[in-house]
Amino acid sequence: MTSLPRLLLDWYHKHGRTLPWRDHPNPYAVWVSEIMLQQTRVETVIPYFEKWMNLFPDVTSLANASEQEVLNAWEGLGYYSRARNLHKAAKTIAEKFNGQLPRDLTELRSLPGIGRYTVGAIASMAFGMDEPTLDGNLRRVFARLFDVDEFADSPAGEKILWELAAQNLPKGEAGDYNQALMDLGATICLPKNPRCLLCPLMEICEARKNSTQDIRPVMKLKKAVPHHVHVAAVILQRRRVLLAQRPPEGLLGGMWEFPNGRVKENPAKELTKVLYMAIKLRVKREAELGVIQHAYTHFKVTVHAFQCEPVSIPKNKNLKWVKVTELDDYPMGRVDRRIAGKVLKLL
Ligand code: ADE
Repeated sequence: MTSLPRLLLDWYHKHGRTLPWRDHPNPYAVWVSEIMLQQTRVETVIPYFEKWMNLFPDVTSLANASEQEVLNAWEGLGYYSRARNLHKAAKTIAEKFNGQLPRDLTELRSLPGIGRYTVGAIASMAFGMDEPTLDGNLRRVFARLFDVDEFADSPAGEKILWELAAQNLPKGEAGDYNQALMDLGATICLPKNPRCLLCPLMEICEARKNSTQDIRPVMKLKKAVPHHVHVAAVILQRRRVLLAQRPPEGLLGGMWEFPNGRVKENPAKELTKVLYMAIKLRVKREAELGVIQHAYTHFKVTVHAFQCEPVSIPKNKNLKWVKVTELDDYPMGRVDRRIAGKVLKLL
């Protein structure tokens, strides 16, 4: 029987996707694309990747950029710690490794934001090393191909899947093999309704043989995600609006937002108290500008945005009056960018 790598590579050479980071694979481009592609679809990433490579064509230009420039270029991709880690790692590579990504796997792994998956991807795709990798697509493909009935999101399942990824690697072609698996997962071996009849691995797939495609990979039941309600204040004065900068670490770290706080039941009633408790900001509530919903990985939020008059503004380094016409220069998450859109319409 023809082997898994041969079937897969033959398919990839005919049907693999043409993607901008595959045109001229250099280690920096592979690294940037792999970080962008974590939890984000290829179609979303392509325009961001192209813009990024124009703005920061190499490690040194990224290392020399300001955090604001970096977060601005990332805005809309989500999971902003990825951008902050890329930036931190670029500075380390510029200082310690002469601006070149290290080829040593332990050194690569020591860089911020580079875990086992990214090490395997960079080593195989950029350096031609015989290294396995395992992302969500590959987990699904291997769980089906070998009909793995262990929880894929358990340590035991992870161990089995990494072993399968390593066992079948074709020598000298690991980069193409890993990318072929990614393409197969994204276009054929789909989470729902896999297109088995088009699959080059149809004949050797254990899940297809056992009709278990729909129950592989086996995942633990997810906990229900909490839902929070927030109020945000839009305080306009002389064509400027008051923004707050978030703490440097954590969710949306270092990004800008409209002053806000979490409420229990009644956003309009609780607004003044919540803003005072959160940042000692005293306001008078005016009209409601809109309600915005957003889902993060671990929780959902509903944000009620109100126009407010300032009563007293604390002396706080994280607060800044920003010209409405310059709002675009301040990196924000999706919710606050939507509120900013409503502010522009007020003028
Ligand atoms: N997803 C993650 N990395 C990828 C790559 N190099 N090509 C296509 N999809 C991917």
